[in-house]
Amino acid sequence: MKITIVGTGYVGLITGTCFANAGNNVTCLDIDPKKVETLNKGEAPFFEPGLSEMMTKSINAGRLDFSDDSSTAFTGSDIIFICVGTPTGNDGKCDLSYVLGVADDISKVLDTFDTPPVVVVKSTVPVGTTHRVAERLHGEYFIANNPEFLREGNAIDDFRTPDRVVCGVESEEAQAALEQLYAPFTGDGHPLLFFDIHSSEMVKYASNAMLACKISFINEIASLCERNGANIERVRTGMCADSRIGNQFFKPGIGYGGSCFPKDTLAVMEMGDNANAPCLVNTAVHELNQRQRRWFANRILEHFDNDLTGKKVALWGLAFKPNTDDVRDAPSIDIAKTLIDAGAEVTGFDPEAWETYGSEVPEVTIVSNMYEAAADADALVICTEWDEFSSPDFDLLKAKLKDQVIFDGRNLYIRAEMARHGFHYYSVGRPTLEICTA
Ligand code: UDX
Repeated sequence: MKITIVGTGYVGLITGTCFANAGNNVTCLDIDPKKVETLNKGEAPFFEPGLSEMMTKSINAGRLDFSDDSSTAFTGSDIIFICVGTPTGNDGKCDLSYVLGVADDISKVLDTFDTPPVVVVKSTVPVGTTHRVAERLHGEYFIANNPEFLREGNAIDDFRTPDRVVCGVESEEAQAALEQLYAPFTGDGHPLLFFDIHSSEMVKYASNAMLACKISFINEIASLCERNGANIERVRTGMCADSRIGNQFFKPGIGYGGSCFPKDTLAVMEMGDNANAPCLVNTAVHELNQRQRRWFANRILEHFDNDLTGKKVALWGLAFKPNTDDVRDAPSIDIAKTLIDAGAEVTGFDPEAWETYGSEVPEVTIVSNMYEAAADADALVICTEWDEFSSPDFDLLKAKLKDQVIFDGRNLYIRAEMARHGFHYYSVGRPTLEICTA
């Protein structure tokens, strides 16, 4: 099939590349000519395992190309995917201007098609937006919605072996085209689900809101555990043995970040306000997430009696999660800023997010080695659970640190082992060893 993808952000680029890899002819359209030039060389603008290799393979096979020319990119397309951003605007509301702008661009060329294309909204949009797109399309087309559930760092696997693919359609033509396109990725254990468009739009928000809810819930229980002498890791193990609860997205930490959960919980709250049906759970989920970062930063401040003047803090993990260089809404940003405001000098290390983080918090000195970050530091703060942090050389770390204090926001280490090494070790939702040893 001939596919046009509008927008080469995370969703657009992964989608386009995976469809091209499956044998389709894909053109990805973006307004930024410099980005298009880089993409045509097979260079991904962000770190995602396996992506550049897959792009290069499809470009070399002539199945994938990138363009900034909206007058030609749609030519002969069977399916057009709208994958542009829906950021939270300054007013806190979901900004749909890019999505609606693309609808206008498509509308201008609709009369050039021999066969009406299927126009698919893949961007995460509030319920009703796909129909707003359709209202702006003048000509013949079939409308559809197809939300994306990719996780950064795991995006290619998620695309090729999805838990499910959800589509919202209102014509047999759109359904048939999407069935054909997704056939290589769906089947046994990977259902392709067709709903009405409003339900399809809602599935995306409801799914992300539910996952965000699980994280805030376990963080709330972690904070109770700390206060009453229980251990969140044991409590979690006990809870997750109940198959009704399940064991995913239940890791306590310093809260969620990234480009989706923070934005999507706000969008659900906005939908609730607009519908005069306030979303109370989502509001609490969002507030708890903000509180969790503040709590962690405050714990560090308290350790230093609220004055970090002349203190050096090492920060391990800057990305919002491992296996990405994405720092959007990363807890490490708020935490570093709080420490800097309190007078600290912060040195950061991340296996991938060194460039992206520099523009967010330029005051943080970024180094290229985790032990170098720890050199002469009064404390080590861990914000992201990258694999290389899970079994460090504790003797070397101890020798590097000026003061052997670790604030672990991801519960990476066994407390007894940390005590044995002589670290003063803070984690999340686990009492101090004086109260409970293990
Ligand atoms: C998420 C959804 O998982 C994906 O389906 C959707 O398409 C986009 O949003 P992503 O933002 O890539 O994907 O990251 P994800 O792996 O879901 O993690 C989100 C945040 O939650 C991270 O900050 C992570 O550290 C945090 N998290 C996740 C926890 O704190 N605890 C957990 O148990 C799981």
